[in-house]
Amino acid sequence: MIYNENIKLLPIKTDDTDFVLSLRNDLEIARRFFSDPPVYESVHTKWLSQRDEKDLDFIIWYEGSRSGRISITHVNYRHSKAEYGIVIHPDYRGRNIAFRASQLLINYVFKELPIRKLSLQVFADNNIAIRLYEKLGFSREGLLKQEYLRSGVYQDVLLMALFKENWG
Ligand SMILES: CC(C)(COP(=O)(O)OP(=O)(O)OC[C@H]1O[C@@H](n2cnc3c(N)ncnc32)[C@H](O)[C@@H]1OP(=O)(O)O)[C@@H](O)C(=O)NCCC(=O)NCCS
Repeated sequence: MIYNENIKLLPIKTDDTDFVLSLRNDLEIARRFFSDPPVYESVHTKWLSQRDEKDLDFIIWYEGSRSGRISITHVNYRHSKAEYGIVIHPDYRGRNIAFRASQLLINYVFKELPIRKLSLQVFADNNIAIRLYEKLGFSREGLLKQEYLRSGVYQDVLLMALFKENWG
């Protein structure tokens, strides 16, 4: 468990399935991600049992309630890099939860794991998430133009990264 005073990151478990499905099947959230709902329980359960054991996937608990999900995936120790992702349930936004949960996890990753670079991809029109990432210290690395079809339009995707030497 990774925690500070009112935020705890607990590894995702079978018990979290309803909460995770409520996030993955929320249409406002889904349009920010590179997957399409509906996601069924059987698909999620299969993913849970087969995921890469190097991945870190946490439920963000805020004052005793599930408030979001945060993950480190595509862990590659040969190149000392990984990908970071986050989503906060709509009822819990604007309370600094994403920022503080990200600080907790990124601190852990850079202090405890042989990772020197965290990357992410975000739709170029997702200004709220981009502001969060810039506040955390991520910088822009490039733009994939018309990369991904969403709602009938090819969307630009921004590549961002944070290096260990620029953290803290
Ligand atoms: C992006 C997201 C994770 C932010 O979660 P949150 O807990 O509400 O964010 P925080 O309260 O920690 O805010 C951190 C920073 O994010 C930015 N931010 C958050 N909400 C914002 C808003 N409504 N408008 C503008 N900027 C905002 C700000 O920079 C803020 O820092 P500040 O308050 O000092 O200005 C949340 O909106 C979300 O889950 N969105 C849908 C999923 C998504 O887009 N994920 C990223 C996919 S790549």
